[in-house]
Amino acid sequence: MTVAKETLDAIRRVVGPKGCIEDAAELDAYLIEERGLYRGTCAMVVRPASTGETAEVVKLCVEAGVAIVPQGGNTGLVGGGVPDGGIVLSTGRMNRIRAVDAVNHTMTVEAGCILAEIQKAAEEAGALFPLSLGAEGSCQIGGNLSTNAGGIAVLRYGNTRDLVLGVEAVLPDGRVWDGLRGLRKNNTGYDLKHLFIGAEGTLGIITAAVLKLFPPPRSRETALVAAPTAEAVVELFTRTVDACGDSLTAFEMMGRRGVDFAVKHTPGVINPIAKPHPFYALMELTSPRASEPLRDALEGVLGDAMEDGIVDDAVIAVSEAQVQDLWRIREAVTLSQKYEGGSIKHDVSVPVSRAADFINRATALVEKEMPGIRVVAFGHLGDGNIHFNLTQPADADTGTFLDRWEDFNRIVHDLVAEMDGSFSAEHGIGRLKRNEMKRYKSEVELDLMRTVKNALDPKNIMNPWKVL
Ligand code: FAD
Ligand code: MLT
Ligand code: ZN
Repeated sequence: MTVAKETLDAIRRVVGPKGCIEDAAELDAYLIEERGLYRGTCAMVVRPASTGETAEVVKLCVEAGVAIVPQGGNTGLVGGGVPDGGIVLSTGRMNRIRAVDAVNHTMTVEAGCILAEIQKAAEEAGALFPLSLGAEGSCQIGGNLSTNAGGIAVLRYGNTRDLVLGVEAVLPDGRVWDGLRGLRKNNTGYDLKHLFIGAEGTLGIITAAVLKLFPPPRSRETALVAAPTAEAVVELFTRTVDACGDSLTAFEMMGRRGVDFAVKHTPGVINPIAKPHPFYALMELTSPRASEPLRDALEGVLGDAMEDGIVDDAVIAVSEAQVQDLWRIREAVTLSQKYEGGSIKHDVSVPVSRAADFINRATALVEKEMPGIRVVAFGHLGDGNIHFNLTQPADADTGTFLDRWEDFNRIVHDLVAEMDGSFSAEHGIGRLKRNEMKRYKSEVELDLMRTVKNALDPKNIMNPWKVL
């Protein structure tokens, strides 16, 4: 889609020279995405400095019928931020923390604030903003809200959707909806903020939000545990929840191959459990009370589990440096797969009670389909969310392997559907999983979604052809 010169001139007048990028070399970073699957085009990247400027730009675009693709940190994993003509609206300049209310336990932030900076500001205010994910150094809160990001603390604190009290958004017609309320109770009709959370930019542009803050953890215990089977990992999770309740903040599962890739490809990452084991769990207990006996609780659970053959070995971190070392293994599992060639990714969820069965059955199915394929299963097991990634056989041609993406989607997603799960647990739909919507969602659900989209964005200018 080409954009008329008059529209581009008018946008330039709204945002000024600092607010537009048109140089081809500079545009590049906004046209590509994390997984390298798509490359887009656009007439201009527009970087408004305020909600008012954003609204003016949207009005110009709707008048001229120009598509707008909102973009935050561009770390999304489903191609949702890749433009196909029109403009990219990048939120990076709207990056002020507007207010911290320590008594209300809330923080009001603009969409372009980087997640790690929000975490830091919360810490400086003596509080915790618990959303945490591998991309936190570059993703922005507007992107987190728009993808309803998950990450490693969902077990205790919920998804991004659960961490938000209010939203400010620019609608597809250019009006501003000010829903920036810091209320924990407000039953005054439809809860409109939830329309924008998880909408991946298809219903409007989130420009600010009121976030919930929590007491910071004052005691913490972190352990890496080796287990003989996926069933054992799930059993350990169940026992830990039973014994420790919501002090269990994170429970991440890693299959052996992912840990091996992490150690092989990441300088400084070491597996402290020397003997190889089929599965590992990285678990963390925290409490806002400094004197909470978390160590006793953890040792109790692990001791019993070892006696019962559920846990083969375990390392409990004894310093902050060791805590960081253990978490580095988990982060490196995500990042190291690319060094082993092509990878077909699945971000699925099933009820935790079926997670082990899913891992076993899915592994058997894909290995039968392509002998030599290397399963890298890992993820947020405590949420039933498994990243069931498939690395190409060592000697395969990468292109030929990736051509089989659809076939493996079918095998894995059909099994997920049979197990009452979801084919996109936390990464969203974007462009990558759009075709799966038709296959796995009911016509009634899709019809409701289309009705909402048409009501808010009848001209289909807001991130068109994503999600639906
Ligand atoms: P972008 O990629 O810029 O955009 C994502 C989508 O939201 C796009 O559709 C875009 O159009 C839309 N959008 C962005 N900003 C706005 C806005 N202000 N208003 C309206 N629409 C908007 N995700 C998880 O859920 N859990 C994880 O554990 C996790 N780990 C990751 C680890 C790594 C190493 C990487 C690279 C990614 C990971 N992700 C994870 C995916 C990604 O970081 C999240 O989806 C994140 O929330 C995206 O934020 P962003 O600012 O980069 O959004
Ligand atoms: C993770 O949990 O590390 C991520 O969601 C990233 C991924 O799936 O690649
Ligand atoms: Zn994840």
